[in-house]
Amino acid sequence: MRADPLLEWRKEFPILEKTTYLISHSLGAMPRRAANALQEFAETWASRGVRAWEEGWWEMPVTTGDLIGSIIGAGPGEVVMHQNVSICQSIVTSCFDWSGQRNRVVTDGLNFPSNDYIYYGLERQGARVYQVASPDGMALPLAPMLAAIDETTQLVSVSHVAFRSSFVQDLAAIVQRTHEMGALVIADLYQSAGTVPVDVRALGVDFATGGSVKWLCGGPGAGYLYVRQDLRAQLQPTATGWMAHSHPFEFESGPIHFAADAFRFLNGTPNIPALYAARSGYEIVNQIGVDAIRAKSQRQTQRLIELAEDAGFPVRSCRDPQARGGVVVLDVPNGIEVTRELGRREVLVDYRPNAGIRIAPHFYTADEELDRVINEIRSILESRQSR
Ligand SMILES: Cc1ncc(COP(=O)(O)O)c(C=O)c1O
Repeated sequence: MRADPLLEWRKEFPILEKTTYLISHSLGAMPRRAANALQEFAETWASRGVRAWEEGWWEMPVTTGDLIGSIIGAGPGEVVMHQNVSICQSIVTSCFDWSGQRNRVVTDGLNFPSNDYIYYGLERQGARVYQVASPDGMALPLAPMLAAIDETTQLVSVSHVAFRSSFVQDLAAIVQRTHEMGALVIADLYQSAGTVPVDVRALGVDFATGGSVKWLCGGPGAGYLYVRQDLRAQLQPTATGWMAHSHPFEFESGPIHFAADAFRFLNGTPNIPALYAARSGYEIVNQIGVDAIRAKSQRQTQRLIELAEDAGFPVRSCRDPQARGGVVVLDVPNGIEVTRELGRREVLVDYRPNAGIRIAPHFYTADEELDRVINEIRSILESRQSR
């Protein structure tokens, strides 16, 4: 078998020295250089003080966003950084009037709960939320999703890759139907960006959001928001702040005059240390390229499925490699306890109710680690049986 060139990256991730790390759908491993970046933040704060704002900090939500832009197909200056997806969703939904005839929000039944909490909250402003149910909680057929989008729809929310099952949705078809109905799409790319290729401009997605914690190996506190450039001028978020003003340092009171560029979608002081920490992961993903990550991921998730089937473990994730993201879900008995015992054995995975044990190889995963997780699960189940 050919050597795997991506394994060269293992030495850049300290946790891999001791731990079988199969949980990048939850928290990607920390790149060694992220620690240097945080040190650089501290030194800049210490030595440059307030001058740091005009020496780069002020622009950082957009300059850091550019690194995400090249991963998701956005252009320079089209992505801004926030703390998390929940905030980005609130900013987007605050751009619309929900009291008129076009007041329907369509949300896919596999969406991350935080997103739905925000949409249902809009009912107080007149929105009507329609959640397209998933028959099994794992996949969502396209037809009912498309049928739910009608001429009263204002916003369609899709999780590109579902967090629970890693099911990949047909974003292109959903965007097309949404636009035919005169509505807009917000795509949650959290579980795709960095592991499944996505091109927001080619797809025509109107808004996209995601964060850094998972496949991008950027750590917590750095979420991103992409807004289609030609929509900007018509959008006036009520979830806003002084950084979104066209002349923030004039400190005008009264209503805001929005910036014409992507600063329009910012609010208050950004989380600068989180942006320092996050950049290393984005740089690495950019350097490797998502196509190479995806090719390896498809090979390794397929291998995991085969190993699990040989061991007799029910596999709940999608068999079609095109419709499967980076995670394999196994429905073994006593999944929570098995997951805890795996952790004690230095094999990190997680468990989600109504799904099972989620296992995610990433670009730094060695094939032997796939054998290891399956063998450890087998040994844990056998030792439970013999008790
Ligand atoms: C698809 C998806 N969206 C959103 C989130 C989290 O949102 P937030 O950044 O608001 O914590 C997660 C993960 O936890 C997720 O998997």
